[in-house]
Amino acid sequence: MSFGGKTVSDLLQGKVAVITGAASGNGRAMAIRFAEEGAKAVVVADVRDTPREGGATTVELVEELGARAVFVRTDISKRADVRAAVAAAAEFGGLDVFVNNAGIVLFEADPLATTDEDFDKIVNVNLKGTWVGSQEAIRDWTERGVPGSLINVSSIGGIQGSRGTPLYSTTKGGIRLLTYALADAYAERGIRVNAVHPGIVDTEMLRSNLAPLADSGVDQMASIPMRRPAQPREIADAAVFLASDLSSYASGSSVVVDGGFTSSM
Ligand SMILES: NC(=O)c1ccc[n+]([C@@H]2O[C@H](COP(=O)([O-])OP(=O)(O)OC[C@H]3O[C@@H](n4cnc5c(N)ncnc54)[C@H](O)[C@@H]3O)[C@@H](O)[C@H]2O)c1
Repeated sequence: MSFGGKTVSDLLQGKVAVITGAASGNGRAMAIRFAEEGAKAVVVADVRDTPREGGATTVELVEELGARAVFVRTDISKRADVRAAVAAAAEFGGLDVFVNNAGIVLFEADPLATTDEDFDKIVNVNLKGTWVGSQEAIRDWTERGVPGSLINVSSIGGIQGSRGTPLYSTTKGGIRLLTYALADAYAERGIRVNAVHPGIVDTEMLRSNLAPLADSGVDQMASIPMRRPAQPREIADAAVFLASDLSSYASGSSVVVDGGFTSSM
């Protein structure tokens, strides 16, 4: 199918999704890919509506593809905000897919210099935010007695310890285990819970960390067998898989999209 000169498929025909952090980067690419695959509506749940990388808003791009979209100002660490995002999905007919994508990174060259404030900030967003998003999505599905797909964006830092970002790794490892635990708890109710582990992705998050990483002697590109970062769309394709019936028997899975990073020495 073609819409506005773009090819549109139907892997997510009629689905309603909430994607946190969808104003920018990976979440924005997911919103676009979901619309391309026929999603009915996307709720962009972010602290900002404009993309960090500039350009049109995610809502504008999704609507251009023929899907409905709404921005709901959401800090994922605040339960009332997350509830409002789920309520916005109800307006479109009800939540089918919830993506816990929003996250932040802190560069910590010296772990001993990391403050309690740093700890609280990153744990609040990455770990508590993912926990709250998971709870509110699953609460909605269980109360309505419907199936759902919960997708948690972890990182290769959730699989291996990462130099320069120990706190980030701590939160991303927590997200991996949270995924496994929730997958087990809700599988019988038809709720699938899976994780995506991106490698190095060409987004503003990466760009803002390249300089401090290079300054501390970490050459991330040299560690990638494919010798390039991922494009956000390549991460979004994994989310399309996990959101769709293509992954109907996958729950508690870790989908690693890292150009070979974690499997090489
Ligand atoms: N870029 C990478 O190299 C990389 C690698 C592995 C994993 N990831 C993960 O991918 C996810 C998206 O990262 P990205 O690279 O697209 O980053 P990004 O900074 O480009 O985009 C993140 C988006 O999240 C939003 N956000 C930040 N804090 C929020 C909060 N409290 N509530 C709601 N929204 C908030 C930002 O406003 C922004 O729009 C993150 O979970 C990140 O950890 C990224």
